[in-house]
Amino acid sequence: MALFLGIDTGTSGTKAVLIDENGTLLASGLHEYALSTPRPQWAEQHPDTDWWQAAIKAIQGVLAKAGKRGEDVAGVGLTGQMHGSVFLDKNDQVLRPALLWCDARTGVECAEITELLGGTQGCYEILGQPVFTSFTAPKILWLRKNEPEVYDKVAHVLLPKDYIRLKLTGEFAAEVSDASGTSLFDVRKRTWSKTALDKLSIPSEWLPHVVESPEQTGVISAAAAALTGLRAGTPVVGGGGDQAAGAVGCGVVGTGQVVSSLGTSGVVFAHSDTAAIDPQMRVQTFCHAVPGAWAQMGCVISAGGSLRWYRDTFAQGTSYDAITQGAATAPPGCEGLLYLPYLAGERNPHFDPDARGVFFGATLRSTKDWFARAVLEGVSYAFKDLFTLFSEMDVPVSEIRASGGGAKSAFWLQMMADVIEKKHVLLNIDEGPALGAALLAAVGCGAYASVPEACAATVSIRPGAKPDALQSKTYSRYYRTYRALYPALSTAFKTVAEATQGTH
Ligand code: XUL
Repeated sequence: MALFLGIDTGTSGTKAVLIDENGTLLASGLHEYALSTPRPQWAEQHPDTDWWQAAIKAIQGVLAKAGKRGEDVAGVGLTGQMHGSVFLDKNDQVLRPALLWCDARTGVECAEITELLGGTQGCYEILGQPVFTSFTAPKILWLRKNEPEVYDKVAHVLLPKDYIRLKLTGEFAAEVSDASGTSLFDVRKRTWSKTALDKLSIPSEWLPHVVESPEQTGVISAAAAALTGLRAGTPVVGGGGDQAAGAVGCGVVGTGQVVSSLGTSGVVFAHSDTAAIDPQMRVQTFCHAVPGAWAQMGCVISAGGSLRWYRDTFAQGTSYDAITQGAATAPPGCEGLLYLPYLAGERNPHFDPDARGVFFGATLRSTKDWFARAVLEGVSYAFKDLFTLFSEMDVPVSEIRASGGGAKSAFWLQMMADVIEKKHVLLNIDEGPALGAALLAAVGCGAYASVPEACAATVSIRPGAKPDALQSKTYSRYYRTYRALYPALSTAFKTVAEATQGTH
């Protein structure tokens, strides 16, 4: 039976999954790397020494774990963290570490781009979304201004997974779902925006050609075969940005279907048959990995990332299970101890790179377990903000499919259902974006006629959590205060950001 490999260049590590054409999981494996934060608001990783080296190990590892040979793999799909900037010279060499999606150094460049594109309204008209520090174009402008000697050598700009494609196949290519997050892409026409490129004076030849997600983009080269154990000549498909590929892996490929992904970032992603753009400009529209479909998407930058930060800072050596068990001993709502998860600024609904993480409302009664619970609750409230936007926009939400590391905690999943006041269901296999990438490979290699057909044959749901009315009532009281905190603090965030600039 044909096997398909999905590779996810994530933020905490690179994951590989191997499935057969029925969607049965044969093996999965992860190789972790660190996040470098050399200055306030900076977040970087090295495309070669971090991502490519981890990809080689993840591919070798997954083949060995499944007891399979490269010859058994019929196709490869790629996915990864979105928006990052890989800068290459004319010999395809990496010029500097990539600036990541959670890097918030480009506030000034975002303002410049917004102005050049005709204000936020113009951005929505040209791109389908506002420009934000996460996205790629402001990173290119930052390089032009701050590291001109590097900028002068740039010959190619790639997204993270597309760098792995280059290493695997020798080909430069991108696909529509990931390209949607560059601020250089016309999501309605599913092509690079000539208007944006011209207005920002970015050479179009720096960008690769764009395909739909299941389309083939070259084959495994002899050099990559020697390093990874894959067979030279194996087809590689476009794949998808992690959110679009993750949605495919969760079977979110039809109207009313929504995935809530609780990974490092938290994302709510709703399938859409049209390129509907939010007239009030609060959520982003991206191309879906399903050809001819789009998605409305909102993002909490530090979701699971908040819990990881809490563990690394206050509970080193403690497992996530032990932290959540402790959190479960604190009272729901923590008697008003609230956490704003804005450790790396926030995207929706505030679009504010200067926003900061906040604990509010500590008293003499607040213990460490209460702080842990406040982190989980704060992230859940941030998700509620996204669902509130979706309901204001009339995005249909028939059921919420919960995915990602956070959804594996029954305690956190129940809290999400209680806070959001909606039923959450789980997936039969939750291997996230890597699984979606493998399914896209299965479609691209002809095992299925379409992405929805592949999902119908392989993805199913199981019970998750139903909201408990009493808990929901408690949380909704504290959520009102949570909502009031950002407006009360936004000026202070600005002042602190200004004070921090120039101190490094
Ligand atoms: C999506 C986003 C994150 C990253 C990292 O817009 O910024 O989900 O892709 O996972």
